[in-house]
Amino acid sequence: MDISKSAAWSALQLHRDEMANVSMRTLFQDDRSRFERFSLRHGGMLLDYSKNRITSRTMDYLCELARTAGLEEKRRRMFEGEPINLTENRAVLHTALRRPSGYTLVVEGLDVSAEVADVLQQMKAFSERVISGSWKGFTGKEITDVVNIGIGGSDLGPCMVTEALKPFAHGKIAVHFVSNIDGTHISETLKKVDPETTLFIIASKTFTTQETLTNALSARAWFLSFAGDEGHIAKHFAAVSTNRAKVVEFGIDEASMFRFWDWVGGRYSLWSSIGLSIALYLGFERFSELLAGAHAMDEHFLSAPLEENAPVIMALLGIWYNNFFNAGSHAVIPYDQYLHRFPAYLQQLDMESNGKRVDCEGMSVAYATGPVIWGEPGTNSQHAFFQLLHQGPGFIPADFIVPLKSRNPLGEHHDMLIANCFAQTEALMRGKTGEEAREELETAGFDADTIAMLEPHKVFPGNRPTNMLVFDELNPFSLGSLIALYEHKVFVQGVIWQINSFDQWGVELGKQLAKAILPELQGECEVSAHDGSTNALINLYREKRQK
Ligand code: F6P
Repeated sequence: MDISKSAAWSALQLHRDEMANVSMRTLFQDDRSRFERFSLRHGGMLLDYSKNRITSRTMDYLCELARTAGLEEKRRRMFEGEPINLTENRAVLHTALRRPSGYTLVVEGLDVSAEVADVLQQMKAFSERVISGSWKGFTGKEITDVVNIGIGGSDLGPCMVTEALKPFAHGKIAVHFVSNIDGTHISETLKKVDPETTLFIIASKTFTTQETLTNALSARAWFLSFAGDEGHIAKHFAAVSTNRAKVVEFGIDEASMFRFWDWVGGRYSLWSSIGLSIALYLGFERFSELLAGAHAMDEHFLSAPLEENAPVIMALLGIWYNNFFNAGSHAVIPYDQYLHRFPAYLQQLDMESNGKRVDCEGMSVAYATGPVIWGEPGTNSQHAFFQLLHQGPGFIPADFIVPLKSRNPLGEHHDMLIANCFAQTEALMRGKTGEEAREELETAGFDADTIAMLEPHKVFPGNRPTNMLVFDELNPFSLGSLIALYEHKVFVQGVIWQINSFDQWGVELGKQLAKAILPELQGECEVSAHDGSTNALINLYREKRQK
């Protein structure tokens, strides 16, 4: 089925024309209960979506679109472990990783619940040994630093979470993340750690990723240059992977391998043993709270009616702007410094999942799919790109994320942060008319010519949509819920766009070509097998290459 040919899609197209000139300012003036109508609470989280270009009819049409796409059935299929990742013939079961024990789910003969419980137990025991100091390095010293070596989903999630939950760290272990193949990343990290007290976690679902294996080999060589004996590796290297054979081949002790499964996508894997660095940094109890927060959101997503379902609503609003207003891009602005890696994490979650141009049947889609996701924390972003959000042509929908309580209450800082956050969404919605701009200029005493010249520059078109996500405080539980909220948002959008959100073939071509180029860079011969530009770049590098 081509969703863009459905009655629900056509109804939205007509409705879009009706809504094109409707101003949110007027909608708020006409309806005193707009906030109540278009906001919902779940757990400690509030989603205020009243500053969107919507009416109740818009939401009805959008929910109808979700039903037409078969959302409820597809959601059931995901949670029950059916192989919805069609191109890889895999189930998609990150939700099983955070489900409390006491249920049974068997997928392809494997008792998922028992497997998950087993690995969680292994993570608990290991993290407790390391944190307590009973796990010793090769000279008998306790571990003080953990270096997670991984990339993409084996890096972004744990890195974002450990940054976000810094105030909850037990303080006995520092955590570092190395991802980039650029030797600078591992070199600068190794300068900060001591081989006697460092534990490396090699995190790779496939255990074939070039960046991770290269960094792991460099870390191993560095470690051995101090420790000498390969027998000491077992005390300083652990692996997280689905690929036992490759882990063993690399020389990591099987007892220090933490497994996970094909049905956990890389970008959905922080809940699995890929979260080992989180458990080591925060302690297993905090890691469990993160899982519990995500599970609470899973329950909400599974059981709330579409009209009152936070991930569904956020997904539908994204579809509304992306497909019916050609928005093409979506900003995420956390007003919390601890969430500074959250937009980067979401980029992989959303763009690797929904950056697809063919549907599940391999047909080209006739509509936009995944938008460009980007963002930076407020208030820094206000002094960088908010100019474009306020006065650029077109509009960019944005999510604002803010905790009511600060972990660092300091004078008026938090009041000011909150004032800025709320003011920005108010400004984006209200804008400033020509009349209002003129009045301000007159009050400031400008002459008529100057006012005429300045007025167009001082106008804010407004009517720019935002969601506000408010929670009491950023803690493991609320962060777990927040991440799961976005995971499900991405899922819902993929269902409506009829694409497979769980493969990522688009990352392969560049990897293949890099494999071919590497020996050419290192070779003696002038290269001429590529296009003119690529040949010239390779030959330029060859000339300057450091030997
Ligand atoms: O970028 C492609 C990708 O496969 C991601 O999906 C994944 O998270 C990342 O590479 C790392 O893969 P792995 O965990 O197998 O090393």
